[in-house]
Amino acid sequence: MQLCVALDLPSQSENLALAKSLQPYDIWLKVGFRTFIRDGRNFLEELKEINPNFKIFLDLKLYDIPNTMADAAEEIAQMGVDMFNIHASAGKKAMQTVMQRLERFEKRPLVLAVTALTSFDYQSFKEIYGADIDEKATQFALQSYQAGLDGVVCSVYESRMIKHETDRNFLTLTPGIRPFGEASDDQKRVADIATAHKEQVDIIVVGRPVYKADKPAEVVEKILEAL
Ligand code: C5P
Repeated sequence: MQLCVALDLPSQSENLALAKSLQPYDIWLKVGFRTFIRDGRNFLEELKEINPNFKIFLDLKLYDIPNTMADAAEEIAQMGVDMFNIHASAGKKAMQTVMQRLERFEKRPLVLAVTALTSFDYQSFKEIYGADIDEKATQFALQSYQAGLDGVVCSVYESRMIKHETDRNFLTLTPGIRPFGEASDDQKRVADIATAHKEQVDIIVVGRPVYKADKPAEVVEKILEAL
């Protein structure tokens, strides 16, 4: 299992300070669209300058028509990020088009699909997708696997089932992690490291338990020991 720290602090300087404090660790860093819209690709370059072995997950959740998604995917690949994500609900054709467009890259980023946003409750999901959330999430995962993606963003509690339906090597990346049972904040279905491990998760995303700690590096060190 690998660790991805969410750089969710409100300013570029705070995010860079956090990254600097984590410089000794070859971990994933998640850059969301708030940060990317404001700080752009320079910010990604600055992260790599701090530690060239940091792996960057650009969490932009692309959703558009197939050709437009593939255009964006190509730009992302050219920036040299290590992983990004797209919405599975954009459709299998869109996912296939993205993967075909990335074929020309000798070393392309990993591509993950977002299945169901965890902010949906059962009813509101059904209003939009006309199906139950767990059934649809598995179907989305299967379609992204068939389209040639590398994995999905999902909850810890869906990870094992998704691997069972697809392939053991199809990656699962899960937010909502409270490594040692810390406060769940606004997350609904949280899990600790031991549970993530049991559910065969590949990459855990941790935000607040790291960046709100007095000494984020100590928390990261402890998490890496537990992995
Ligand atoms: O602070 P916390 O550990 O809850 O942060 C989790 C990170 O994962 C945040 O950046 C959040 O936006 C992201 N995320 C999530 N649930 C999803 C997708 C992304 O919590 N379904």
